[in-house]
Amino acid sequence: MSVHKSDIKKVTTHQLQEMKSRGEKISMLTAYDYSMARILDAGGIDVLLVGDSASNVMAGNETTLPITLDHMIWHASSVVKAVERALVVVDIPFGSYQANSSEALRSAIRIMKESGAHAVKVEGGSEIKESVMRIISAGVPVMGHLGLTPQSIYKFGTYSVRAKEEAEAEKLIEDALLLESCGCFALVLEKIPSKLAEKVAQRLRIPVIGIGAGPKVDGQVLVVHDMLGITKDFKPRFLRRYADLNQVITEAVSHYIADVKSSSFPNDKESY
Ligand code: KIV
Repeated sequence: MSVHKSDIKKVTTHQLQEMKSRGEKISMLTAYDYSMARILDAGGIDVLLVGDSASNVMAGNETTLPITLDHMIWHASSVVKAVERALVVVDIPFGSYQANSSEALRSAIRIMKESGAHAVKVEGGSEIKESVMRIISAGVPVMGHLGLTPQSIYKFGTYSVRAKEEAEAEKLIEDALLLESCGCFALVLEKIPSKLAEKVAQRLRIPVIGIGAGPKVDGQVLVVHDMLGITKDFKPRFLRRYADLNQVITEAVSHYIADVKSSSFPNDKESY
């Protein structure tokens, strides 16, 4: 199978902008640890997101809310050590930027200083405008995130598709334009109607990356554990599984157990 890797040696925010301009789609996946990040980076992924979905897939929490800034920095520094080419973006977790812009700036600076990541991501629009502007004016690139924003799950009450109604769709477009005017370098749109996502991607100059936002945006992101089939129970319509690693691992583990029980592992060649 071919590896889709362009000539880009190191992906930057500027290059993502150029990719949008020339109509080249941007590939993005989550990563939370060194070993996986090495594989994804060598495979040619453009952007690695150290997502706060680590709270769900790495720590087994029901929501993204419990993960802390310290946890995110730990995950991010593991990913950064593995990466040679991809742009590494880190979620600022719930409770580390919503109170005010000083707290937001402090959190962003900690992430950049302590992990070595290249950019941060925040959820929300007009309500976090000041924080976004302050982080960007300190020299930290910011990726926005609108639509279904999991840090607000208790406000929404459900993980269903957002912005189906006109008022919410209008607000989303306004927020997207606002984030662009504040200086965000890219925007994630999660679980919104395809037509709305297309409209936003057409109106914005910055790249729009979708998850459950249809094909007419500038790139796609998925949670790596979902697309590799490590997680089993999460089956939203937007998810395409590219492997069934759950099955592969289960078979390998049961083979190993059988070999240990039957004393066929280790054999002479595997012993000193
Ligand atoms: O945390 C995460 O994995 C995300 C993606 C779903 C975009 O924010």
